[in-house]
Amino acid sequence: MKIVMYSAREDEIEFFEHFSDVYGVECKVLLHDPWPYNVEEVEGCTCVSVMTNTQVTAEMLDEYYKLGVRFISTRTVGLEHIDVAHAEKLGMGVANVSYTPYSVAEYALMMMLMSLRHMKTMVLRAWGQDYALTGIRGSLLSDKTVGIIGTGKIGSTLAKLLTGFGCKILAYDIWENPALADIVTYVPLDTLLEESDMVTLHAPSSPENYQMMNREAFGKMKKGAVLVNTARGDLVDTEALICALEEGHLGGAALDILDGDRLINYRDKKGEVICHRQRAVLMSLANVIMTPHMAFFTDHSVSDMVEISMRSCTDFCKEKGLF
Ligand code: COI
Repeated sequence: MKIVMYSAREDEIEFFEHFSDVYGVECKVLLHDPWPYNVEEVEGCTCVSVMTNTQVTAEMLDEYYKLGVRFISTRTVGLEHIDVAHAEKLGMGVANVSYTPYSVAEYALMMMLMSLRHMKTMVLRAWGQDYALTGIRGSLLSDKTVGIIGTGKIGSTLAKLLTGFGCKILAYDIWENPALADIVTYVPLDTLLEESDMVTLHAPSSPENYQMMNREAFGKMKKGAVLVNTARGDLVDTEALICALEEGHLGGAALDILDGDRLINYRDKKGEVICHRQRAVLMSLANVIMTPHMAFFTDHSVSDMVEISMRSCTDFCKEKGLF
């Protein structure tokens, strides 16, 4: 059975090689992204594995199906880049992966600490040999109240990690996780926004969650509070965030993702004109840390992503008698 691995990165190759032996599959590894103009590349492959770089549209799925593809796997947690409803209509299987939640949880924690200790300013100043302490006195996470929005795997792992810091932990989710009863206090969303010094997002992208962090939500946040987003860009109304930072209402933001940056992340854009004005504004602010959606990026997660993607392809094909 053959799987085409789209958007493959060099660092994934060792895992493709290792796990294709383990699962007895053949991998066609392609470094570029899947687009409507390269659909014919999947010919001879029963499964297609993708990342989030581009959209897998209904038209592409139609072509894939005609060429013999029966299963689409994304090596990511998020599925929003695939037209799942259309795949199901065609009778194609679709699956995401679930990699270790520690990668993103530890990263969110790191971003909180970096914000509290003015790490961006300090590192930039040090490059200019400015070692003065002016304006960079930090504050302690242990003195803070952290509000976690979304207590699925990542949010609850973060809650457990935070217990070691001694901070107060508030949480909001439409489903309360009983396993967290001793660690967090579940509160209504408004209470979380009003009482937290740091608000960290761990909710999925969905029509209900679209821009949940908007002007009104920022208005409810404590003056000087920090927003951390390692989840999805469309959870935040970026313009409203910029206003809240410019007005001095928010004390900072740590963003691993920004709405509209899909075609920027994971690409070397040196020397290019990047047409994303909000990104340029945020980059210029001393109290905003921005990284290119890399919270997932650890050896452990990459291994999980490749293995689980491959395993879901083989499981599906075995079940359907295609392997
Ligand atoms: C996911 O797995 O859904 C992520 O957010 C990380 C991915 C885009 C590499």
